[in-house]
Amino acid sequence: MSLEKSIFLKALNKEVLNTPPIWYMRQAGRYMPEYRTIRKNFKNFLEMCKDPEVCCELAMQPINAFNLDAAILFSDILTIPDAFGLGVKFVENKGPVFTKPISSPIDINNLGHFDPNDLDYVYKAVTNIKNSLPNDIPLIGFSGSPWTLAAYSIEGCSSKDFSKTLSFIKTNEIETHELLSKYTDACFLYLRKQVQSGADVIQIFDSWANLLKEDDLKTFSFDYIASLISALKIDPVTKNTPVILFARDPDCNSKILINSGADCISLYWTMDNFDIQASKNKIALQGNLNPMILLENNETIKKETYKLLAKYKNYPGYVFNLGHGITPDIDPGKVKYLTEIVRDF
Ligand code: CP3
Repeated sequence: MSLEKSIFLKALNKEVLNTPPIWYMRQAGRYMPEYRTIRKNFKNFLEMCKDPEVCCELAMQPINAFNLDAAILFSDILTIPDAFGLGVKFVENKGPVFTKPISSPIDINNLGHFDPNDLDYVYKAVTNIKNSLPNDIPLIGFSGSPWTLAAYSIEGCSSKDFSKTLSFIKTNEIETHELLSKYTDACFLYLRKQVQSGADVIQIFDSWANLLKEDDLKTFSFDYIASLISALKIDPVTKNTPVILFARDPDCNSKILINSGADCISLYWTMDNFDIQASKNKIALQGNLNPMILLENNETIKKETYKLLAKYKNYPGYVFNLGHGITPDIDPGKVKYLTEIVRDF
């Protein structure tokens, strides 16, 4: 068997399938006891990401446990700001903390040059995972969107409303665009290296798209995503690599996403009004199931999942996934159950 048989790649190629391919955002993570066993050995999460052998083992855990149709690189989106020298640390119960966040326009002017080779540990992880996977299971490489990386870099940590960032981008608009443009170039070089090292598919995470109102969303986020995707689509290394775009609950009409240049849009669970008729035969779709469903009993899980599967039944290119990542409080048995009932539908 080879990748030509992959139902994940078939779905991304907009084929109608009897059973959708299945993978989950954050399929490797704290909800798995085998993840926690390895995680204990590292104080700082990013240190763990810098060990390509450990990353390979972690990426394989959900494949071995649930027999999924795609693997995702084990790493993090904040490797890029870290490589720019912003000093990313992960603090227990707080998430990412930057030791040198962008706090003034001068910090943007002084930002160093991005050398993609500084992230060699990521490409090594890609190669290791690719070598460990059965050869019909594709590997997803990923990056954050330029906007989402900029939001963390300015805020300096996670936040509910990113108020510091939203005021910074209004008072320092020109420099913010310089930062976004540097991050766009870095994402391109980073993703290109991931593909050279064995990634078969790319996913771009615009996890903070929801912070921006329609016009700002276009100028600060989607314009940069569009230029990133178009750079990928003309480069000889990446031009045939399918691109999935995940944008968290974006304040825009479906057309903007359909015309983003991505091959597939990963739908957040609140995006019920997404225009499926307009996207049909133009792009594949992924996700859309509320991740909280995994906290319910099996009967409810089945009812809600089958409702969703019925909606996408004849859609040309549907990838089963959640609308966002699996949370740490989930019982792995529920992930197994969900995977089985999707295949029984
Ligand atoms: O299977 C997988 O998806 C694992 C690979 C992966 C991780 N992060 C591992 C991780 C991927 C694809 C990401 C992407 C990522 N990282 C995103 C985009 C996806 C999304 O959820 O919207 C974002 C926003 C980040 C940044 C990030 N990483 C935050 C804010 C946090 C802390 C919050 C949290 O969930 O703890 C992380 C940490 C992180 N990244 C963990 C994992 C498994 C948990 C770290 C731990 O074990 O302590």
